[in-house]
Amino acid sequence: MPDVALTLDPDLAAVLDQVLMGLLPADALPAADVYLDEEGAAVARRDEGGGLVAVRPLRWALPAEVRTDGPVVVARAGEIPAGPLPAGVVVLLPAGGVRPDDARWPAWAAAWSQGAASVVETPVPVADAALRAEQVAAAYSSGPLVEVDTVAHGGGSGRTVFFTGLSGSGKSTVARSVVERLAGARTITLLDGDVVRTHLSKGLGFSAEDRDTNIRRIGWVAAEVTKHGGLAVCAPIAPYDATRRWVRETVEAAGGPGSFVLVWIATPIEVCEERDVKGLYAKARAGEIKGFTGIDDPYEEPTDAELVIDTSLVSLEDAVDRVVSFLDQTT
Ligand code: ADX
Repeated sequence: MPDVALTLDPDLAAVLDQVLMGLLPADALPAADVYLDEEGAAVARRDEGGGLVAVRPLRWALPAEVRTDGPVVVARAGEIPAGPLPAGVVVLLPAGGVRPDDARWPAWAAAWSQGAASVVETPVPVADAALRAEQVAAAYSSGPLVEVDTVAHGGGSGRTVFFTGLSGSGKSTVARSVVERLAGARTITLLDGDVVRTHLSKGLGFSAEDRDTNIRRIGWVAAEVTKHGGLAVCAPIAPYDATRRWVRETVEAAGGPGSFVLVWIATPIEVCEERDVKGLYAKARAGEIKGFTGIDDPYEEPTDAELVIDTSLVSLEDAVDRVVSFLDQTT
């Protein structure tokens, strides 16, 4: 019988590491013969007795190697110490499920290391830290679990501003002007629909499937930029609600809540068609282009936009002001 393989996402990988370290029972992980990382490399297999064996080195020090009898603190999600830590304390840092290249991580970890006797990264997911504090503390120390006052950690500063709207609505113009206004203040990556289609999405057409692929690629890059503390400004049509929501989820998974800002450039189609800067509406009306958004292909109006701007009513200057002040007010 062939081996049953299971590919682990970062959350399940954290569960696997905890099982390997004896912090969770073996049945905390879905059954399989072999466990693969997201790149398809084997990370662990079941042995004859149903136990788990790691097939590559763990990122973590085993509790037995760390074992102390001093006081320990278990760091909590999104929080950092409000003042100095108690003398000699060992900080247990839940790091499970956090990707090693997550830009929010170093600052959070650094805040906990100040004044600690030592800091130990554990495979426990950050979200489980409070719930499992006692159990985790007991695994690493016979000493007391100490509570410390904490304050919220600001988190990463990365964000994505995602413009959506019909061809000719003015998204690219507003997006470019936002980039010009913010240039110098931070690292910005502009992902304009037309430009992306000359490289990242070269070869893709305008079928529902190709549009979906195009937007997911843009979203994936935007999430990476966001994760590393940059600002991604995207301006494709992005006509489908479900795909935009996928991008929102992907960006927020990388940059945290509020890191994705959807701006619907809601210029009416009559105005876009009248402008017809590229002459494409005329061609679509003449039947020379099939499946043109707003003519014979759908544009699903967003119901979740943070900002709605109609460029037939609002000047370019005011549109840029609205976007920039929204960003200022929500950081
Ligand atoms: S999306 O639907 O995949 O988000 P995207 O923003 O990349 O579209 O590309 C839209 C641009 O491609 C339009 O501004 C227009 O210049 C051009 N275009 C060519 N064919 C079409 C079409 N059938 N529908 C919409 N835009 C088209």
